[in-house]
Amino acid sequence: MGRTLDSLLARNIEWVRKKTQSDPRFFARMAAQQKPNYLWIGCSDSRVTANDVLELEPGQVFVHRNIANVVHTSDLNILSVLEFAVEHLQVQHIIVCGHYGCGGIERVFAPERGELFDHWLQPVSMFYRKHRAIFDALPPRQRLDRMCEVNIEMQVRRLAATPIVENAWIRGQELHLHGWIYTIGSGLLRDIGPHVSSVAERDLLPSIDLCVQQDTGSRSSSEGEQRSLFEALTEQN
Ligand code: CO
Repeated sequence: MGRTLDSLLARNIEWVRKKTQSDPRFFARMAAQQKPNYLWIGCSDSRVTANDVLELEPGQVFVHRNIANVVHTSDLNILSVLEFAVEHLQVQHIIVCGHYGCGGIERVFAPERGELFDHWLQPVSMFYRKHRAIFDALPPRQRLDRMCEVNIEMQVRRLAATPIVENAWIRGQELHLHGWIYTIGSGLLRDIGPHVSSVAERDLLPSIDLCVQQDTGSRSSSEGEQRSLFEALTEQN
């Protein structure tokens, strides 16, 4: 391969060819408008791509991704995406989707800090350090799984606390927040919550510290449930 990415550009032409063949109006429709009903906030991990795992077409999901799907309320990038999605696109659902085995989350267990992304991960690192005794009592794999889940819970709450989301609820706009986790090894998504659809629901959530103290096991043990659902669906088809 030379300095130019000719093979990728060739793939693009092939994609356009196939797409047009199966749906001649596809690109004309895309050019006219986008009307996604979902905002996906996910990890930058190259294996967790929203459209693929949801089997959605372009135009159906608005996407923001960063390392470990963190919602920083000082991040101009995520706030702009959020504002545009909520106020202009009027999405009805925001999905914070993390994944098991997240390398970003694994970093919070490292004793050293000082890379730029340690600053990025600071809220997660501080939370881990605060509840270190609980997390460190788990075997390493479960500790990481649990931390990945807790991070999703934390980010949904942070999202619910933003003025953008709060004002949408106060205006009476329908807006539901979801916490999901993806298992790279199986391709399956799972809804682990929390679900938040109003200021009242947000304010009723028990503190995240309490959640971690009361529920110490990883939900990945219930992955079996999702797998049997998957098997039941495959048998039907
Ligand atoms: Co990740």
